[in-house]
Amino acid sequence: MNSPAHPEIRVFPPASDTVARAHVDAAKYQEMYAASVNDPEAFWGEQGKRLDWIKPYSQVKNTSFELGNVHIEWFGDGTLNVSANCLDRHLATRADQTAIIFEPDNPDEPAEYITYAQLHRRVCRMANILETLGVRKGDRVVIYLPMIPEAAYAMLACARIGAIHSIVFAGFSPDALAARINGCDAKLVITADHAPRGGRKTPLKSNADAALLHCKDTVKCLVVKRTGDQTTWIADRDFDYNEMVLEANDYSRPVEVNAEDPLFILYTSGSTGQPKGVVHTSGGYLLYAAMTHEITFDYHEGDVYWCTADVGWVTGHSYIVYGPLANGATTLMFEGVPTYPDASRFWQVCEKHKVTQFYTAPTAIRALMGQGDEFVSKCDLSSLRLLGSVGEPINPEAWTWYHEVVGKGKCPIVDTWWQTETGGHLLTPLPGAHALKPGAAMKPFFGVQPVVLDPQSGEEIPESPTEGVLCLRDSWPGQMRTVWGDHERFEKTYFADYKGYYFSGDGCRRDEDGDYWITGRVDDVINVSGHRMGTAEVESALVAHVAVAEAAVVGYPHEIKGQGIYCYVTLMHEQEPSDELKKELRNWVRTEIGPIASPDVIQWAPGLPKTRSGKIMRRILRKIAENDFGSLGDTSTLADPSVVDDLIANRANT
Ligand code: PRX
Repeated sequence: MNSPAHPEIRVFPPASDTVARAHVDAAKYQEMYAASVNDPEAFWGEQGKRLDWIKPYSQVKNTSFELGNVHIEWFGDGTLNVSANCLDRHLATRADQTAIIFEPDNPDEPAEYITYAQLHRRVCRMANILETLGVRKGDRVVIYLPMIPEAAYAMLACARIGAIHSIVFAGFSPDALAARINGCDAKLVITADHAPRGGRKTPLKSNADAALLHCKDTVKCLVVKRTGDQTTWIADRDFDYNEMVLEANDYSRPVEVNAEDPLFILYTSGSTGQPKGVVHTSGGYLLYAAMTHEITFDYHEGDVYWCTADVGWVTGHSYIVYGPLANGATTLMFEGVPTYPDASRFWQVCEKHKVTQFYTAPTAIRALMGQGDEFVSKCDLSSLRLLGSVGEPINPEAWTWYHEVVGKGKCPIVDTWWQTETGGHLLTPLPGAHALKPGAAMKPFFGVQPVVLDPQSGEEIPESPTEGVLCLRDSWPGQMRTVWGDHERFEKTYFADYKGYYFSGDGCRRDEDGDYWITGRVDDVINVSGHRMGTAEVESALVAHVAVAEAAVVGYPHEIKGQGIYCYVTLMHEQEPSDELKKELRNWVRTEIGPIASPDVIQWAPGLPKTRSGKIMRRILRKIAENDFGSLGDTSTLADPSVVDDLIANRANT
């Protein structure tokens, strides 16, 4: 069906069987949404009952977006334990139900099915190990693990004893790991010997060894055996999980924490400076993750739900571990990559485990789409009922392929827009309530009040259609609470540009039906294969190299990755440019940050376009990288306009 205003935009109303099954249909959405924004206290006070509280809350919402006094508190006088909510409370009814299906990188290795009873025991043992190693309530634990069940045990074990975890994606370098260990002053790092991925192995323990050289010598290291390869061992610092677990008691009492005690810190990139530690707390976060998991994915008893993210990112936190387990769901953890051993792996895993909900990123969809339909059509995907997308805008071609080839035209696609900072989905169609438009994130979740602001005036634009910056008018329970150790940075980053609002950093369009379309970041953050990166981080890595005098980094459209990393590099005087040097700089960035930050393009730039006051005009650099020379805008304010001609003449092929 076409939209009346835009005949080229196809609209897919929900199918009747989807509506019949759904937790929320169109009428219920209207009613619940109105209630959620008209009386958030009453709405969330009721929803809070989804969790088991040790001491019930009497207060629900206490929030302020006022600059200088930003304060976000939900269920502030309630107490609970997150791990008890994900485990203990399910034991009476689903002890023998599979909680986690583990699918290893190598398809010849057997999958593992971990029941709620087993998961409970393993988390308790891990919690006891953490306590033996001196970890106490409020202490920080860095988790640097492959996508193995022990990652979930470690998260829930921290939650059980009230410790705060900070997961570092296994693709980050030792330097990046050290910065995060030091940033949150962690007492312990949990790692593994190696991380198998796509048939290759990342040496996690030796990365951790290298990182720990730059950390306090009191930091301990707990090592999980994954591949069994030899690693170096430092007595009294390194501890063997597989040995300790044999001795560990299989019950640990869940510690009572306040709803507002931190559950985890997750470092994420912004437009300036080094990554910041996003802090999520216990009660509101868990409630929001659980509720969105159930309603957006229309999760029902007996479903097998799979989110392909890594637990190193927020998607893995909310939608592999916390949301699904709080709901007593069966959640699949996949260690591998979509293209190993070949491009049918995702679909084979769906067939093997009869996956009902499948949630992935557009970059994976685009990569697989390019491999041809046969990889999909040879698998039996009849179990699939719903598909999800997250991490970046999904282009209509990829959406259509996902819908038709993977979902056979029967599975709604939920295009979920959210961020590390938001804890869970903020904009998404709900499968039984909303029509779908390829590429649109559609509607706000309950309690979410999106507004489109004029970027110049900061005024709300009430009418539709319109386009501008996307902000939120009020708080929701899953919102981040602060930047670890730097509340001022929290206020400055999210509440200073547009007074009284949370500023997402994204631009958006709202169409004549009031549906939202994300247009991408409006700041210096880029999104490479769904990985969020600050261009400033890549620049500071580049200028740390002796040959580099100056660097400016921008994103450019990349067919598969969404955005690629385009670097303009000015070399030191007398430094000769060469292809070898480009290779060296690429490797340099990989070791400074990690392979995910590897530059796609390096262009030698004898000069960068700067204003007379020395500010780099990134707008111009972006246009050149995008191969869009017609709209460079006014270059007359540049200190040396001829720089631009040189950059255009020598633009690298992308
Ligand atoms: O630009 C938006 C994009 O990803 C950013 C958040 O990145 P991160 O904190 O790493 O979290 C990713 C997973 C939640 C957003 O500011 N983004 C995320 N989801 C979408 C999206 N852009 C368009 N459509 C989406 N569905």
